[in-house]
Amino acid sequence: MVLILRMEKKVILHKPETLAIRTQIERTSHKEHSAPLFLTSSFTFDDAESMRSIFAEELEGNIYSRFSNPNCQEFIDKLCVLEHTEDGIATATGMSAVFATFMGLLHSGDHIVSSASVFGSTHTLFTKIFPKWGISHTYFSSDSIDSIEQLLQENTKILYCETPSNPGLEILDLALLSDLCRKHSILLIVDNCFATPYLQNPKLLGADIIIHSATKYIDGQGRVLGGAILGSKEIIEKIRFFARHSGPSMSPFNAWLLSKSLETLSIRMERHCQNAEKVVEYLEKHPSIERVIYPFSLSHPQYNLAKKQMKLGGGIVTCIIKGWIDKGKRFIDELQMCSLSANLGDTRTIITHPASTTHSKLTEEERQHVGILPGLIRISVGLEHYEDINNDIQQALEKCQ
Ligand SMILES: Cc1ncc(COP(=O)(O)O)c(C=O)c1O
Repeated sequence: MVLILRMEKKVILHKPETLAIRTQIERTSHKEHSAPLFLTSSFTFDDAESMRSIFAEELEGNIYSRFSNPNCQEFIDKLCVLEHTEDGIATATGMSAVFATFMGLLHSGDHIVSSASVFGSTHTLFTKIFPKWGISHTYFSSDSIDSIEQLLQENTKILYCETPSNPGLEILDLALLSDLCRKHSILLIVDNCFATPYLQNPKLLGADIIIHSATKYIDGQGRVLGGAILGSKEIIEKIRFFARHSGPSMSPFNAWLLSKSLETLSIRMERHCQNAEKVVEYLEKHPSIERVIYPFSLSHPQYNLAKKQMKLGGGIVTCIIKGWIDKGKRFIDELQMCSLSANLGDTRTIITHPASTTHSKLTEEERQHVGILPGLIRISVGLEHYEDINNDIQQALEKCQ
């Protein structure tokens, strides 16, 4: 990691807001202020001996952008600082981060214990893809966390979870899960996509690996796909071996853009959360709304836990509209400003119906099990003025009375 400072002075920078800005790859001879884009598939060597030693990993150096690239390195250096991890890998998407992590660490015959409330494609990996290679899983629900120990088998290698979960916003006690994993020598992997490193640091609560879909809040403007895997050098080395040879690499352009996006993550997250609180306040009083789910709302069943492990409540709000079958679709059709899209964590407010989109591949029974009711609406609260967001929701709700 290189910290770019104006003078070679000894300073201690420890605030995440500062580190996300001042962590930068070494300047080139042009002395550019902002890190340039290294749009190159390969790198050159001074002579045969340096080429040999870099290939043999005796010397550090870039060889080929499937393995490493300065822009990907800068992106990972920043995330390592923000997530308090030693090392990491930048990947093309969040799902390639999830997939590479399991492929790098598991063998045929291994077993995963996972929260049932995971992103739809992660669920598809567990249920439809991993069984082809003899990797099995058992799910636990957020209200039965005390009985996880009974689900562990001799071949259990990983405990996997998302908190807050997508889209139910369930909160899991990471300190408790990490104690359990230590006791049974299994790895705790946390998808920290919804909270971002600004709101929650799973590593500080004992997680071994942190996964991000950078496509969401890390980009924050709905432009590029990306992912990251973060952890100790020892664990990341095992995953890197798989990633290096199977090629889920992040493009240098995306890494360049995402690294710059990290510079504004803290202020964006502050505003996403402030706006989300205003939307929650409005929806909680609305007669057409049956239930609002938000981690920092007093009515959330894990409110105290959310307050303990998260800095703010996040930018996602879910709610259930009364009489969804008749009114819900109409509500979505009547929205004038909010976007109908599958993404989240954008500057633009996005409204999704998970049961018919992101989680449509689950069976009705599976959806019920993880609280994805037919009437559940997910609102990714954007950075527009909160009054405009609430006004749009209000006019759409009025039209479906
Ligand atoms: C919690 C979570 N994890 C992983 C992913 C997958 O990320 P990507 O779409 O970047 O592959 C998503 C996507 O929505 C997500 O919400």
